[in-house]
Amino acid sequence: MDESDVAAVVSVLRSDWLTQGPAVPEFESAVARFCQARYAVAFSSGTSALHGACHAAGIGSGDEVITTPMTFAASANCVKQCHGEPVFADINYATCTLDPHAVERAVTARTRAIIPVDYAGHPCDLDSILALARRHSLMVIEDAAHAFGAEYRGRPVGSIADMTVFSFHPVKILTTGEGGMVVTNREDLRDRLLRFRNHGISREPGVQPPWFYEQHELGINGRMTDIQAALGVSQLAKVRQFLERRRAIVDRYQCAFQDISELRRPVELPEVRSAWHLYVVRLDLERLTSTRREVFEALRERGLGVQVHYIPVYSHPYYRRHETCTTQLVRCERAEQFYEEAISLPLYPKMTDDDVEYVIQTVHEVIDGAKRQTLY
Ligand SMILES: Cc1ncc(COP(=O)(O)O)c(C=O)c1O
Repeated sequence: MDESDVAAVVSVLRSDWLTQGPAVPEFESAVARFCQARYAVAFSSGTSALHGACHAAGIGSGDEVITTPMTFAASANCVKQCHGEPVFADINYATCTLDPHAVERAVTARTRAIIPVDYAGHPCDLDSILALARRHSLMVIEDAAHAFGAEYRGRPVGSIADMTVFSFHPVKILTTGEGGMVVTNREDLRDRLLRFRNHGISREPGVQPPWFYEQHELGINGRMTDIQAALGVSQLAKVRQFLERRRAIVDRYQCAFQDISELRRPVELPEVRSAWHLYVVRLDLERLTSTRREVFEALRERGLGVQVHYIPVYSHPYYRRHETCTTQLVRCERAEQFYEEAISLPLYPKMTDDDVEYVIQTVHEVIDGAKRQTLY
């Protein structure tokens, strides 16, 4: 946050509209322009945006949707919220994004959509996923909660999938406090999203009397406020700087950690530009005497706000309780291995160079202390 963000929010507080005013369409147009997409529909969170996208895709009872276990639960919960069944397919171990071959194997006659996740800001293999989706007449809802500003083969994330979902939670690339957005090129999907966001209600100005409205289906109040949207417009103006600073920090980490052979650094495939939401290293546990938990706790004790992204979604008690015969515990081995080894290091635009050097020095010290001694 800087003073221009504060001023943007204050100007809404002093205006006539706290919600359903002009700031929301302004933010939507700005995001659509940024993503080179036709339409953008703002939501109260990334979670409600995913729910809206599943609804707009027509997901309902008995439908299956293929997604990754290496994500925040919201990527799968949205399917459940529409009474469908999430089916988990394994990841590509290098990028931690959905493996298109695993997706292909998971397709059944009941599959309706795929929700790939741009893990850590790295776009998923969109060409392969879209090609197989077209072959099987499936919708692609890209969960780009981590990937605002990322690019895939020179095109912005948001311009490619049937629908792309962003989150503006404070840890994300830009924030509105809470907030989300669905971006699409399809007018029919935009219309369904708008109606779902507003209780399933639509109005036809000019056709009916001025007070008239009708509820056509069951929706939610998923609206973003003008307070949030004004913050979003202000943040969007700075998003290139945020992305550049994240990239500069990652460049420094990549160089500084290349000599630690017990750490696997994240990759960025040549055809993409990651938004670098997260910097996730993996421990080569065979070469360490410490467990991942011990390394994690040693980093935390030295003041680093490390985290683990993610516990495979299907391991959560809710999902274990709700297994069905089609979604019975498929074990995604690469995802589980990734989970066992991963640690996310601090990464945010306001980190100073000194903060970055402290992280580097601390990681070196902790890993040095955890190395298995080679006996000659
Ligand atoms: C991959 C992914 N999808 C969806 C969400 C949900 O977004 P929100 O927190 O804005 O509801 C998150 C948020 O953490 C996420 O990381």
